[in-house]
Amino acid sequence: AEQPAAISRLLKDRLGKHGVELDELSMSNDDLAAIDRVYMVACGTSYHVSLIARELVQDWAKIPVFCEYASELNYKEPLVTDHTLCVIITQSGETADTLTAARRMKALGCKVFAITNVLGSSAARESDGTMYIQAGPEVCVASTKAYTAQMVASALLALRLALANGSMDEDEVRGHFASLEQVPGLMEEVIRRRWQDKQAARVFRNAKSALFLGRGVNSTTAYEGALKLKEISYLHAEAYPAGEMKHGPIALLEPGFPVVAIVPADHVHDKTVSNIEESIARGATVVAVATDGDERVAKLCENVLWIPPCPEEWIVPLVAVVHLQLLARYVARARGCDVDKPRNLAKSVTVE
Ligand code: AGP
Repeated sequence: AEQPAAISRLLKDRLGKHGVELDELSMSNDDLAAIDRVYMVACGTSYHVSLIARELVQDWAKIPVFCEYASELNYKEPLVTDHTLCVIITQSGETADTLTAARRMKALGCKVFAITNVLGSSAARESDGTMYIQAGPEVCVASTKAYTAQMVASALLALRLALANGSMDEDEVRGHFASLEQVPGLMEEVIRRRWQDKQAARVFRNAKSALFLGRGVNSTTAYEGALKLKEISYLHAEAYPAGEMKHGPIALLEPGFPVVAIVPADHVHDKTVSNIEESIARGATVVAVATDGDERVAKLCENVLWIPPCPEEWIVPLVAVVHLQLLARYVARARGCDVDKPRNLAKSVTVE
């Protein structure tokens, strides 16, 4: 419920005379323009943010991006150039794997930029620049508002890079920023519809496992939805880009098997609808996340988590994930789990 306010806070005063202001980067326009490669390094939910950030930086700033789990990067040789920017994304700013990776990238000559929630955290202290997402303390172990706020921070970074190297002009930046400004209202609308998540949670009552599917930026929404469900309800869940279903996960499907399909009104809508049809043909119970007015999905699925129309496709992950967070919470409650303090997990993982 705090997410809309967190996003509004983050966007406040960001639009300056020359597009997005991101002074926290502490880099000159020329240095930003020279960046020819970006490494995004993170763990868990923050890693999911990096997957969306990759799409935005590549699409807008035309800079190749490598996303790495910090725990993996620490044992391989990164391909660093003279102008590589390393972005670490860490809610707590204390995740040991991420800090080790950041130190390594710094030693290799990269500028390290941190996106974090915690003032004065190790990530902030050790980086060349820090952007605070200002989401406020996250009480529950599972990251929710930090996820969406980190995604917005990444979008601002992508816009700043695109403006610096001339891939985008100020008008385009303003256009995308205006889309971001709609996010708090869109999230509030989803929160008002939480009864849909409560109702859909019944599908998981006797389930042993669930499959999450999405395409493009929403394959990441699927990954994050599955992680939230696993973390707080202890229900096994897997996520795949929907097109991968036929390459293996389809074998899981049997009558009653829950499939969560993220199928907004986007350029791959028809393809994802086909995946829903294939799932239903095998007896699966599909919970869809779809855009208001989608009659095809309404006809196919009994349980639909409706999202209001979004101004651009890349905005959908910020809005759709709120449904999946709520869904995970209702499933967890129904299974008698402690939503705020799931077993075996800590808010910040300070060991490698
Ligand atoms: C999120 O719900 C998880 N508890 C976990 O994946 C978390 O995102 C990960 O440990 C990284 O934490 P950080 O963002 O504080 O670095």
